[in-house]
Amino acid sequence: MKKEIEKLDFEVTGLTNIGTFPIVGGGIHFPLVGQLVLVTTVNRDKIPNVAPKSWISVFASKPAIIGFGCNMNHDTAKNILSTGEFVVNIPGAELAKKIWQAAELKGTHENEIKKIGLTPIKSKKISSPRIAECKAHLECALDWTKKYGDEVIIFGRVLLASIDKKVVEASLEERYKYLKLITHLDENLYGVIKEVKRVKP
Ligand SMILES: Cc1cc2nc3c(=O)[nH]c(=O)nc-3n(C[C@H](O)[C@H](O)[C@H](O)COP(=O)(O)O)c2cc1C
Repeated sequence: MKKEIEKLDFEVTGLTNIGTFPIVGGGIHFPLVGQLVLVTTVNRDKIPNVAPKSWISVFASKPAIIGFGCNMNHDTAKNILSTGEFVVNIPGAELAKKIWQAAELKGTHENEIKKIGLTPIKSKKISSPRIAECKAHLECALDWTKKYGDEVIIFGRVLLASIDKKVVEASLEERYKYLKLITHLDENLYGVIKEVKRVKP
C-alpha cells in the first residue's frame, strides 16, 4: 500500500512580509515562488528609480497585461501612479547581489541605477529607462490598480518587449543557460533555473 504523506494545515489571516515567501503562520514559509525582476520607473522630474519585485506574473495576452504587487509607500508605486508607466527588466543570476543592493536604496537619487553598478538605457516607448545588463524588458503603461491596505496590485499593458538577440536566436537549451532566470525563495535566498526539459520529445 502507498504510504500517505502527512499534511499540516494553517489558518491564513494575512501574510507577514513582502521580502520572502508568503508566511502562513508559525514562521512557516509557503512554497509559492515568483520570478525576480527589476522594475524601473521615473518620478515627475524624470529621476529614475529601480527596485526588485517578485510578486509578479502575466495576467492576459490580448492585450498583453502584466501585474505585480507593490507597497504603496515604495517609490516604485508612487512613480507609477503619478507617471502611468514602468519597465519590467529581466535579470540573470549574475545580478543577484545588485538586485539585493537595489532593495537597500531608499529615497530619490539622480543616479540610483548607476549607483548599484547597472547601466540605464533609453526605452523606446516610455521615459522610464531599461537596464542594459538585463536580458529582456517589457515597457508598460499603467492599465489598472487594486489596493489592499498598504499594498497595490499594478496592472500594466505591455507596449514593447525587447529581448537580447542571443536569446531569440538560441536553441531552447542555450536560451535558458544564457538567461539564468532567478526566483525569490526566502529571505536572502534565490533559486536559478538551470535545467529545461520537454514533456514530449
Ligand atoms: C528579492 C526581493 C524581492 C522583492 N519583491 C517585492 C515585491 O514583489 N513587492 C514589493 O512591494 N517589494 C518587494 N521587495 C522590496 C522592495 O524592493 C524594497 O522595499 C525597495 O527598497 C523598494 O524600493 P522603491 O522605494 O525604490 O520602490 C523585494 C525585495 C527583495 C530583496
